[in-house]
Amino acid sequence: MKEIRTVAVLGSGTMGTGIAGVCANAGCEVLLLDMDQAACDKAKQNLTAGRSPIVKDEALLANIKTGSFENDLAAIADADWICEAIIENVDIKRSMFGKIEPIRKDGSILTTNTSGIPLKDIYQGMPERMQQDIAVTHFFNPVHIMKLVELVPGENTRPEVIETLGHFLGTTLKKGVVYAKDTVNFIGNRIGCFWMLTGMNLAEKAMKNDGLTIETVDALMSTPVGFPATGLYGLIDLIGLDVMYNVGKNLDINLPADDYGRKFTALTDNVQKLHDQGQLGRKTGGGFYKLTRHDDGSKTMEVFDITHHHWRDAKPHTLSDSEQSINALFSNDEPNGRFMQDIMATTLCYTADLVPDISIDIVNVDRAMRWGFGWKKGPFELIDELGAKTLIDLVNSEGMGMPKMLQVMIDADESTFYRKNGEEHLGTDGNWHTVSA
Ligand SMILES: NC(=O)c1ccc[n+]([C@@H]2O[C@H](COP(=O)([O-])OP(=O)(O)OC[C@H]3O[C@@H](n4cnc5c(N)ncnc54)[C@H](O)[C@@H]3O)[C@@H](O)[C@H]2O)c1
Repeated sequence: MKEIRTVAVLGSGTMGTGIAGVCANAGCEVLLLDMDQAACDKAKQNLTAGRSPIVKDEALLANIKTGSFENDLAAIADADWICEAIIENVDIKRSMFGKIEPIRKDGSILTTNTSGIPLKDIYQGMPERMQQDIAVTHFFNPVHIMKLVELVPGENTRPEVIETLGHFLGTTLKKGVVYAKDTVNFIGNRIGCFWMLTGMNLAEKAMKNDGLTIETVDALMSTPVGFPATGLYGLIDLIGLDVMYNVGKNLDINLPADDYGRKFTALTDNVQKLHDQGQLGRKTGGGFYKLTRHDDGSKTMEVFDITHHHWRDAKPHTLSDSEQSINALFSNDEPNGRFMQDIMATTLCYTADLVPDISIDIVNVDRAMRWGFGWKKGPFELIDELGAKTLIDLVNSEGMGMPKMLQVMIDADESTFYRKNGEEHLGTDGNWHTVSA
């Protein structure tokens, strides 16, 4: 297998800088390029700044050389791996790959860090050599903290390219590698964005009909199901409503015509108003929540009432005994339980219908959600906790089509997706397979 020792990172924005930093930490020689050298130099210096610096040892900065696309592109000829992390625009990315293809050495590997552009839209019509050497390496933000990297081959990518990248990302960079297919938003964001966009829509229905609050929704959509403490609205405050708006637009354009996710690609009217008035989240000083630090050192947390459009003091929701786990919530016929049944059944069924279209197996899906979204259990592990029969009965009682992987389970006459303490998983062929390390 080829080894990656020299890396060229194109783009010194949030992601490019993070990728350059983790490669420098791992002892690689890194070339970091951007439109102007000054931006690159500044990005390099920032690598050791802050409370959780990307590069902890100043000496490692010597591993990074900087430059500009205009003056230094020729230096990519030395790189074993060229990772593109420039602006999310297919024409600009294609133009960049067009420039580097004649310069790079034979056997070097090209990847794009795109979060949503199909890889084939980038390589279509490009020389055969490039089509054989290109893949997606989708790092998650912040690069030095998030474990997940999605690795996606194109139709003509050589298997050695994926093997080399898989080994480098997993062993040298110590990332969690998930093997995904070249489909809209790959795995993590396909499911995670569905969960967030559908969640906002269903939550507002529950707020209007049953009086749930943002705090209740966030308390329910966190600990009981093993999701991070930010819950739904707290997470969207972190990501930013502008990003969510663009994600929704991208899904609207690219999702297959019959995809269930099409139902909720738009923000609700109330949330769209927040977006339009620039109340985007933490980066604008407040979104759904606003934290105020007072001169005496105390803090107050306010929450924005999205139906009545005003700020009020936050009132954290204390979970009752019947709200402590996914199983408790599915036996709970109160509004809070019904809301969680709605969002979790929808998300789990959506996911179960996406395999094998977006992933060769359920293991990569579960890993993507654990490593990229901080879920304690992935969707198929959650179905096992809940009991697949509960979902299957629900699908039958609603007269809906059976999600693909649930149908595989029914046909194989099995009742779980994992067995032997997670050592084996149910494959798309209905047989048991060893879970790879
Ligand atoms: N930020 C995230 O959370 C995240 C996560 C995963 C993937 N991504 C993807 O990573 C890539 C980079 O995103 P980012 O968040 O680092 O963006 P960013 O805005 O921080 O950086 C973008 C970089 O592109 C450069 N650029 C802008 N216009 C250019 C042009 N015409 N030609 C060449 N370079 C140009 C900029 O100088 C900048 O360095 C995108 O494809 C994005 O979708 C982002």
